[in-house]
Amino acid sequence: MLLRGIVVFTVGVCLFGGIAAAEPARDAILADYLNQARQADPGFTAFSAERGEALFKARHAHNPDVPSCTTCHTEDPTRQGRHYKTGRAIEPVAVSRNPERFTDATEVEKRFSRDCKNVLGRLCTAVEKGDYVTFMMSR
Ligand code: HEC
Repeated sequence: MLLRGIVVFTVGVCLFGGIAAAEPARDAILADYLNQARQADPGFTAFSAERGEALFKARHAHNPDVPSCTTCHTEDPTRQGRHYKTGRAIEPVAVSRNPERFTDATEVEKRFSRDCKNVLGRLCTAVEKGDYVTFMMSR
């Protein structure tokens, strides 16, 4: 019984670790943001899940209808979101719940552009985008 538990646990960790950490398309997107971040600041070292979480939860004054990413994606990225206006369901943004997240570079860029302009009133920087993806990979 105990042995079985250990085996199930180990396989689970491998599967989840594999999905969250080693997805080539997502790694390529992050590597691209890292290059851009280093072009802007040669001293830049690494993305931060903590900064990504702060960006995700921050409230902004730009658009009172959508003060935050959480307005549609909810405070908990492992849960299903809801578009504040259309009411349409949005699948969870946490990679553990939705392994396809951040694997389509065109879609990722399109959404970052639209959502950052909508919420912040400007485009997100490469550092912000990398931090955001890193936070979602940790959830
Ligand atoms: C008005 C509602 C709304 C708000 C506010 C919002 N989003 Fe989104 N977001 C969406 C919708 C709709 C999608 C597309 C549907 C999907 O991917 O499930 C999406 C998808 C995304 C994706 C694509 C992820 C992937 O699958 O690759 C990213 C990145 C994203 N949002 C980032 C943000 C960020 C950053 C903020 C805050 C600055 C934000 N969103 C705020 C509605 C919103």
